[in-house]
Amino acid sequence: MIAVAIDGPAGAGKSSIARAVAKKKGYIYVDTGALYRTIGLYCIRKGISYNDAESVLSEIKVELKYENGEQAMYLLGENVTSLIRTEEVSMAASAVSAVPAVRAFLLETQRDLARKNNVIMDGRDIATVVLPDAKVKIFLTASPECRAKRRVTQLAEKGIIEDYNKVLEEVNTRDYNDSHRAVAPLKPSEESVVIDTTEDSFEDSVEKILAVIEEKTGE
Ligand code: DC
Repeated sequence: MIAVAIDGPAGAGKSSIARAVAKKKGYIYVDTGALYRTIGLYCIRKGISYNDAESVLSEIKVELKYENGEQAMYLLGENVTSLIRTEEVSMAASAVSAVPAVRAFLLETQRDLARKNNVIMDGRDIATVVLPDAKVKIFLTASPECRAKRRVTQLAEKGIIEDYNKVLEEVNTRDYNDSHRAVAPLKPSEESVVIDTTEDSFEDSVEKILAVIEEKTGE
């Protein structure tokens, strides 16, 4: 099986770029952030402090499925795929992802997918923790300003108008949380190829990743 690990901060374009690469290569695309988001959503609904997320793990069931080639998330049998895309859930996901028991709880689900399929898996600790033996390791990044700008544009396309400065502040807060936590902090692994997409178009980034995959796997 071939595993492509793509790590990097929020808003670097990981999901859309990885999805396009997966389609071209015939791999499945795994968005691991959605797993943390689903647990974050459960904590919001239950009114549980994010630090106490460990206490709810025994009562929840998180499933990652593929429907018409697209990833769907289920929480206790309910399809929550679109419900986990709010800013509130983003912040909750960032907070619960700092809880070691939450990370341990989700580890096997992620590894199991890579055992059974050729995958391109996006997250924060895929190259360092989840799939340390991945053939291809990429760290995709962009400046915080660029990522905030892309996020504002993305939201505007959905009819949601957000203030750029507020989004930039959220990007910086999430970067800080994700890279300063004690367990599995966001950082490039020693073997990761770092790709900065600040100046690149979407197509340029896809091409760069395809080139790295070809170089590392010969395919
Ligand atoms: O990629 P995303 O924005 O959907 O991720 C949501 C949060 O989950 C993010 O702030 C960090 C966390 N996360 C993580 O800690 N490890 C992963 N492999 C994926 C996401």
